Amino acid sequence: MRGRKVAVWFAATALFVGIAVVLTGCGGSTATTGTDTGSTAAKPLKIALLLPETKTARYETQDKPLFEAKVKELAPDAEILYSNANQDATEQQSQADAALTNGANVLVLDPVDSASAASIVAKAAAQKVPVISYDRLILNAEVDYYVSFDNEKVGTLQGQALLDKLTADGNAGKTIVMINGSPTDNNATLFKKGAHSILDGKVKIGAEYDTPDWSPDKAQTEMDQAITKLGKNGFVGVLAANDGTGGGAIAAMKGAGIDPTTRPTTGQDAELAAIQRILLGEQYMTVYKAIKLEAEAAAELAVSLAKGEAVPSSMQLSAVNNGTKDVDSVLLAPVAVMKDNIKDTVVADGFWTAAQIMTSPELETAGAAVGLQ
Ligand code: BGC
Repeated sequence: MRGRKVAVWFAATALFVGIAVVLTGCGGSTATTGTDTGSTAAKPLKIALLLPETKTARYETQDKPLFEAKVKELAPDAEILYSNANQDATEQQSQADAALTNGANVLVLDPVDSASAASIVAKAAAQKVPVISYDRLILNAEVDYYVSFDNEKVGTLQGQALLDKLTADGNAGKTIVMINGSPTDNNATLFKKGAHSILDGKVKIGAEYDTPDWSPDKAQTEMDQAITKLGKNGFVGVLAANDGTGGGAIAAMKGAGIDPTTRPTTGQDAELAAIQRILLGEQYMTVYKAIKLEAEAAAELAVSLAKGEAVPSSMQLSAVNNGTKDVDSVLLAPVAVMKDNIKDTVVADGFWTAAQIMTSPELETAGAAVGLQ
């Protein structure tokens, strides 16, 4: 615990349950003159946002703009130092160095590599710059805050939805394929743990892969290998860790002449392409995470840390241990999305409009059948 007391209040009205998440904690930051009313000109806050990759749609289309909009609302003069590491952990180290050299008052860091990013946190701490671990937990480091979802729950939602579907189809106990995320992403470890906790002993796992960089193209290659190993009729479903890898697995099935509507496949992120595949029956489910709440919580926290603002101390955070400390954390709730609840989840929440989803005559028909208009 270093520096002045900083507390942040964040109230989030979540989709189904109006959840109020309130933060309090200690952090330190270089004082800035953001609230200075004196005669000297105020020095604008500098807030660095470092995201991990571009192959997954969410980062450039959701996280970045939503974070920036909230920062601009709270601190109109703040400068946002943005970078995306394109799946390259070494590149992310350089980007973080550049942000620190540039005078960042706080780093909001979604690490490519949950372990090696500890050295970024050490450098920031040496300069008294607080770090918010965004979406992925940075391990074994003096992280100031962690803002994410209940990631093990993401895996249990995927596993349970798949198991329920296989059971309904009379396929419980049969063979599935597991396509996990990047081995360097702590979230992927948690998704995998959650999914195994549901599926182990209930199905046979005929082939399982960790997908480097979460690349959809690598997931497609893994699925090609699984089909070769198990045979076209040797598996009844696919546990894919996100929509990108699920899309890769579905492309491999199509390439092998397998009808993907006969092999329930999971996903995560509620990407537009995945919602469309779900409507057409090609993908069975996805997990919706309200990125707006996540990005806005991180923005509120970042602005408060950068300003060194004190706010009410009556707020509660959960604690997540990262190997070094119990990190004060905001953990939001993920939601399983199947065909029948697209309307009540992603559409009701404004994540996608019906018009964005129904872009072909087939999608219009399939959308209308589940109440989209
Ligand atoms: C995120 C997922 C994302 C994946 C690939 C995970 O850490 O939580 O939303 O699909 O990384 O970028």
